[in-house]
Amino acid sequence: MMTGSEFKRRRTQLMRMMGPGSIAILPAAPMARRNRDAYYRYRPDSDFFYLTGFPEPNAVVVLIPGRKQAEYILFCQERDPEKEAWDGPRYGQEGAKAVFSADDSFPIGDLDEILPRMLEQCERVFYAMGCSIELDKQMSEWISGIREKSRAGVQGPLEFVALDHYLHDMRLYKSRSEIKIMRDAARISAKAHVQAMKTCRPGLGEWQLEAELVHTCTAAGARDQAYSPIVGGGANACVLHYTENRAELRDGDLLLIDAGCELDCYASDITRTFPVNGRFSSPQRALYELVLRAQLAAIDKVRPGNHWNDPHMAAVRVITKGLVELGILKGYVPTLIKNEAYKRFYMHRTGHWLGMDVHDVGDYKVDGEWRLLEPGMVLTVEPGLYIPEGCKGVAKKWWNIGIRIEDDVVVTRSGCEVLTRDAPKGVAEIETLMGGSGLANQV
Ligand code: GLY
Ligand code: MN
Ligand code: MN
Repeated sequence: MMTGSEFKRRRTQLMRMMGPGSIAILPAAPMARRNRDAYYRYRPDSDFFYLTGFPEPNAVVVLIPGRKQAEYILFCQERDPEKEAWDGPRYGQEGAKAVFSADDSFPIGDLDEILPRMLEQCERVFYAMGCSIELDKQMSEWISGIREKSRAGVQGPLEFVALDHYLHDMRLYKSRSEIKIMRDAARISAKAHVQAMKTCRPGLGEWQLEAELVHTCTAAGARDQAYSPIVGGGANACVLHYTENRAELRDGDLLLIDAGCELDCYASDITRTFPVNGRFSSPQRALYELVLRAQLAAIDKVRPGNHWNDPHMAAVRVITKGLVELGILKGYVPTLIKNEAYKRFYMHRTGHWLGMDVHDVGDYKVDGEWRLLEPGMVLTVEPGLYIPEGCKGVAKKWWNIGIRIEDDVVVTRSGCEVLTRDAPKGVAEIETLMGGSGLANQV
């Protein structure tokens, strides 16, 4: 769990960047409806939670650096014994101050009355337009209301600044406590993948392995998945966003599992690919070892001073050369790389930032150049190869093989740390864990 002092440090850092005369306004996420009157379990907006740690919907945080009465103001739901009897306790205004260290707190219903008066005293508004239609509408009403008062000498804000840009740059650099949570999340997900490998055998359904994954994470305290698990056997492994998970697993096929839990609002994201029967066939093994070599080469490029695209290019080089050696691509490797011939089989990039969101925030380029990697940044490294059935010009023995190997990696001062290292990925390791030729599963 994140401590109150860490949330405070973030607000202080943001307010220092904003400077005096500024106001930041950020709404909580609404409840997400599943259907009719059934709702998903509440997940706070990552930016809102990053600044406040406040876990309820119907709230707005306001930061006004240098304001004497209160710099940190939290608008939130009022206590309501009748509603609380149905939906559980609320913090209310007292809790917002006592537990979440707000300097002041008001009922969310008073926003329309109080916020325009705060706004009109500021020159610069830090606000993420387009995130909440409701608040965007209120904001434009407040601003036009202030403009109408201009003859009375009220000036109001002169400048609007994208709050998300500032927050997302902060979120890109993970603190020690954030990395600790991400390490815990990664460990739980790795355990879930091991459980899936141990359970897997021909004849089981993809959904049954999904159940193993979710059970392992939930039992370890990580009650949400960071994204819908992908459990795809055979041809399904070639569908990048396959989440149906309703096919039966077949002897001789590979299985691709891309699944990671969320812990305390931090994501993990692991992919492992292994044989349903516990033993790689020789074409499967050849392609698997190629993806693994590409992944290790990419991880080797994750260190301070290298730029965002270095791991991707390392993976592309290994994959292109390997595909030529296997006869799947034909031609001169540098030309094939230049022409992006590998994209037929490797169509996604080698990774993304990882944090509170699985595809986390933060710019990949700065001033048109790939961003340099710095300690505290967390990214995934996930090359893959996908050869669907009927793939033109490719021998049949390679068909229906989809492979991705994905780890979560934090940049350290001297290189990197693989947070998801507990999930096995070597051929021998996997085959041993799964009982060789699946015999262990048959006795
Ligand atoms: N699971 C989504 C991804 O790997 O990016
Ligand atoms: Mn990923
Ligand atoms: Mn993934």
